[in-house]
Amino acid sequence: MAKPRNSRFPSRKSSSSTTTLMLTALIMFTFVILVLLALGILSMPSGSGGSRKANDLSSIVRNTVETSEGEEDRAEQWVEVISWEPRASVYHNFLSKKECEYLIDLAKPHMQKSTVVDSETGKSKDSRVRTSSGTFLARGRDKIIRDIEKRIADFTFLPAEQGEGLQVLHYEPGQKYEPHYDYFMDEFNTKNGGQRMATVLMYLSDVEEGGETVFPAAKGNISSVSWWNELSECGKKGLSVKPKMGDALLFWSMNPDATLDSSSLHGGCPVIKGNKWSSTKWIRVNEYKI
Ligand SMILES: *[C@@H]1O[C@H](CO)[C@@H](O)[C@H](O)[C@H]1NC(C)=O
Repeated sequence: MAKPRNSRFPSRKSSSSTTTLMLTALIMFTFVILVLLALGILSMPSGSGGSRKANDLSSIVRNTVETSEGEEDRAEQWVEVISWEPRASVYHNFLSKKECEYLIDLAKPHMQKSTVVDSETGKSKDSRVRTSSGTFLARGRDKIIRDIEKRIADFTFLPAEQGEGLQVLHYEPGQKYEPHYDYFMDEFNTKNGGQRMATVLMYLSDVEEGGETVFPAAKGNISSVSWWNELSECGKKGLSVKPKMGDALLFWSMNPDATLDSSSLHGGCPVIKGNKWSSTKWIRVNEYKI
């Protein structure tokens, strides 16, 4: 009936060994935490970040940029939503200067007069509405292009396999692309990959005057963009993006319910002064086979 005395009042010896055990465990635990911190597996929350708004895309971009082994020569990157109808945003300094120059050098020897798609036959044809010259660079053709295509996939949340090859375009003074849709109205062009869903338009050069990408059917306050006063007369006829080397414009030709968005009508204003180099990635609703 009487319990052994030892179980209720442990001897001094066993008490001190428990303390030693606990201390040892504590020291080992602290050591492990310190090692994890040193290796960067754990990280301390830093107060400098502050609380960001839930819809602040720039924090997502910064996180992506900080964790990727980026080049040193790239300027600050951030995303600016410029319109909801059409859905469009500008990713500033998406490409480095080196990448822009690389794409231009690669494309230069192969530039051909641009064509448009004939809506009846689905074939390419010469056109007065599009007076630039251009060429396609095969998807995944080299490391630099694969890097860019990966970045486009991260930005759009759409897999690289749904993208067509990059098209590089060159506009000289007077050259332009009249407003048009990127989606197709024919069966022929949607056989591979289905409809075009989104477009990423990268500016590979600055343009002194003109050459804006203009959305004449955009809803909302078109004069609220910070570059409004620098736009050409054509650029002021709609929501416009002024070409800036390295910037990327993403816009959607489809609504979230997969209906076609007629507010995605867009054109390239005539270049007035300077040269415009750009590169386009069209993204389909399904895998685009190459
Ligand atoms: C459009 O935006 C500009 C610049 O932010 C502002 O001055 C102007 O009042 C706005 N117009 C309307 C109709 O809201």
